[in-house]
Amino acid sequence: MTTTEVYHAIDEYRSAARNAVRAGFDGIEIHAGIAYIHAADTNAWGGAPDMQRILAMLRPNFGGTIIANGGLDPASGETLLASGMADMVSFGRRFIANPDLVARIRRGGPYNEPNQHPFHGGGARGYLGYTALPQAQSPV
Ligand SMILES: Cc1cc2nc3c(=O)[nH]c(=O)nc-3n(C[C@H](O)[C@H](O)[C@H](O)COP(=O)(O)O)c2cc1C
Repeated sequence: MTTTEVYHAIDEYRSAARNAVRAGFDGIEIHAGIAYIHAADTNAWGGAPDMQRILAMLRPNFGGTIIANGGLDPASGETLLASGMADMVSFGRRFIANPDLVARIRRGGPYNEPNQHPFHGGGARGYLGYTALPQAQSPV
């Protein structure tokens, strides 16, 4: 949403609350309130990564959990966590390319590289060809 759209949505909630009270309700309760922010750096896919700028805006202004997403790999994720600018990191393409990503992170790799050309092809191609490490090599 743009900032203008956010204000528009707030106005809609305000009108709905007034209407409810006008209709005889004693009050209204809105179940919302931010539990965490999961910030996706969409620039990381093609342009210049913007995560540092995003986190520099979020961290001082939000006291809850911040999850960083977009263009990260386990090493850069660790660096980000160590910097204190994010509390958690999440992966998209790395998970597609590594069905056993968690086990691979635990043992320090190696990682399959994602091939994103077939990601949006509309079929299974691009999602099913990635192999997991042999079980014996994966720590519990
Ligand atoms: C095949 C594919 C489709 C995606 N589709 C969407 C989408 O429709 N909407 C969206 O907000 N993000 C979409 N994403 C982005 C992911 O939700 C996530 O933000 C991104 O993959 C994280 O970056 P990373 O892949 O570099 O870890 C998609 C990602 C992939 C790989």
